[in-house]
Amino acid sequence: MLLLCIVYLTGCGGMQSVLDPAGKEASTLAELFWVLFAGAVVLWLLVNGLFFYVTRLNTRSMSRRLAEALIIGGGIVFPTVVLAGLLSYGLMMMPEQREAGDDLVLKVTGEQWWWRVEYWPKGADQPIVSANEIRLPLNQRTEVKLTAAKVIHSFWIPALAGKMDMFPLRETRLALEPQRVGTFRGQCAEFCGESHARMAFKAVVMPEDEFDAWLEQQAAPAQPPADELAERGLAVFQAQGCGACHSVRGTPASGRVGPDLTHVGGRETLAAGTLPVTQDAFVRWLSETKHIKPGVKMPSYDMLSREELNALGHYLEGLR
Ligand code: CUA
Repeated sequence: MLLLCIVYLTGCGGMQSVLDPAGKEASTLAELFWVLFAGAVVLWLLVNGLFFYVTRLNTRSMSRRLAEALIIGGGIVFPTVVLAGLLSYGLMMMPEQREAGDDLVLKVTGEQWWWRVEYWPKGADQPIVSANEIRLPLNQRTEVKLTAAKVIHSFWIPALAGKMDMFPLRETRLALEPQRVGTFRGQCAEFCGESHARMAFKAVVMPEDEFDAWLEQQAAPAQPPADELAERGLAVFQAQGCGACHSVRGTPASGRVGPDLTHVGGRETLAAGTLPVTQDAFVRWLSETKHIKPGVKMPSYDMLSREELNALGHYLEGLR
């Protein structure tokens, strides 16, 4: 029993926990959880206490009037009042969950199985495109507009806010107000096909000035290859036609089918939370794509030589 408790309680912390909130919406939800949990514990004790009382302590049969009063009072009036109270308490928390400022809007599209991310600063006529990671300024209320390409997904960063479904041809909204700097984990929370479990992302919360500098850097085109190996990698990238599906701003690659790779080396994870961002991980991803993410559209490039894969991995990892 004790061991079981420890196993369960270790799940209550960390970067993907509802009970370790780091954002305003998540704090509200955690508060609601604890109030409902405390209410449930009190009711459980009350009902079991009564049961114990009538079966062990006082087993005399009660009068008909008292029995009827208990059924009407305890069985109808009491639960109606308690449940209505808890329901209104929960509903009162709702209105403020959705409102947000308009300094920055994030648009996230659920793809199979990755996240298309666009940052729209106020007044911008085109977005700053990224993928598989979102970054947010601390203590700012940022609006996130959600949609999906083909099937329904669900956008969920437990430490920051509740879930919100993403539908094709429809837009849903969420407001995120992170209150703690850090890196949190998000996960698709609606079954969306074979690699649903491999559809995660990182949410990085940064102080506002750091965030502004980061966003400016993201808006810039990709850095040119820094060394000979990276140049070789770029040549392989172009020869294999990677640019038909992926964009690397500042190069002819402008595909929109897959994730934007302009600053892929600066992200925390590769393949939507599946691998770390290292040269070796890029090589693994390129040569074992279908094993790492079953059902993925991207073909495996296992026909490339080790030398070509290394160069390609080196080039991509250098796109900071
Ligand atoms: Cu996307 Cu599950």
